Amino acid sequence: MSYDDAISALSSNALKFVKDGHVVGLGSGRASTTLVKSLGKLIKLKKYNIKGIPTSLQIKLIAEKAGIPLIEADQVDYIDIVFDGADQIDSQKFVIKGGGGALLQENILFSLAKKIIIMADKTKFVKNFTITVPIEIHPLARNSVTKSIKKLGGKAQLRSLDRGYPFFTENGNIILDCDFGTIKNPKVLTQKIKQTTGVLESGIFLRKPDVIYRAKTGGKFDIL
Ligand code: A5P
Repeated sequence: MSYDDAISALSSNALKFVKDGHVVGLGSGRASTTLVKSLGKLIKLKKYNIKGIPTSLQIKLIAEKAGIPLIEADQVDYIDIVFDGADQIDSQKFVIKGGGGALLQENILFSLAKKIIIMADKTKFVKNFTITVPIEIHPLARNSVTKSIKKLGGKAQLRSLDRGYPFFTENGNIILDCDFGTIKNPKVLTQKIKQTTGVLESGIFLRKPDVIYRAKTGGKFDIL
């Protein structure tokens, strides 16, 4: 089942939050790609003076093609709106991110954002998290963090590419995809993960989105 039509429709709707002069954070992944393409069209149509901040090379390439002027996160004090996708969203509205490996940049943008808008299809909404949590770590901390994750009740697996090579983030780090089973208390778990030396970012983001778009079938969506 494809949610493409709904993501397309909700992206156009989500652009109502964009005003002339805004600095806009551009998340990574498929939902963000659709949004960024629509944003490019809006900028051209309305001749808006918008600056985009990409969270990965993936979305940077899409944004360049869409004609969105780009800057970096360290050039601003805040970001008006961040648009992003998510891998899972729990009933408390915490999100798991990092499926594409851009979690550190994405969470930096979250920390600067006045408003965060998440776009995801309905299969990603759960009561409690059930998927693995991506954790970006320094390569030298692979063994020590793996042991710490075990002590927290998790099982860490090094993310690798199809042919077995390790996956490196754009920051030169590696990712452990950590299975904690069903996660009932994401806040406490994240605080413990982030206290571990060598951990650079956790895929459970503690800053909750301001607006969540949920794509449904038949091109429909709702807003939570
Ligand atoms: C990138 O690291 C991720 O956080 C993505 O934003 C997330 O995986 C959602 O991607 P899709 O919109 O492609 O499902």
